[in-house]
Amino acid sequence: MKNQVLETINQRRSVRSFTEEAVRAEDLAAVLEAGRWAPSGMNNQPWRFVVVESPEKKNELAGLTRYGRIIRSAAVCVAVFLDQEACYDQIKDAQAAGACIQNMLLAAQALGLGAVWLGEILKNKEKVRDLFALPPTMELQAVVALGHPQNRNQTSQRRPLADLVLGRY
Ligand SMILES: Cc1cc2nc3c(=O)[nH]c(=O)nc-3n(C[C@H](O)[C@H](O)[C@H](O)COP(=O)(O)O)c2cc1C
Repeated sequence: MKNQVLETINQRRSVRSFTEEAVRAEDLAAVLEAGRWAPSGMNNQPWRFVVVESPEKKNELAGLTRYGRIIRSAAVCVAVFLDQEACYDQIKDAQAAGACIQNMLLAAQALGLGAVWLGEILKNKEKVRDLFALPPTMELQAVVALGHPQNRNQTSQRRPLADLVLGRY
């Protein structure tokens, strides 16, 4: 029997071109909920979100990365921050942010939406923070671009499991 969660994980691909169709409010809420339910060390839930839907703000955000075309094309972008005041361990908090972001990507896939994790914009993380008038305690982790995919022809590669498993005991 097929397992829906495993299928969602395996079929998720980064989507970088979107139609102009809006993302329904309940779908956006479900994506954010999926992020909210990610695991975190000591359940500190250090992630914070800024939802960007206005074309003006998206355009400003787009100007801070070489992947600006993706941001402009996406119906919604979610900027994911770590609240340093909620953090307790640099590595574990970054791992929690990664789990949160991946949860959102998988939720988008499960809802028939497309999404991509944008990290290159971190080179301008202070400017992104200023764009949303956030305090210095907010540290950008990624921008998730979200929308209805132009197509589903994305392909990707992974190393064979045999190269990744270092041992079995
Ligand atoms: C930490 C991280 C940063 C990433 N940054 C970008 C980015 O800035 N631009 C982009 O187009 N894709 C970015 N990606 C998406 C990867 O390129 C993509 O996940 C990878 O090529 C595998 O393809 P798949 O997601 O379709 O399986 C990023 C992914 C991760 C996990």
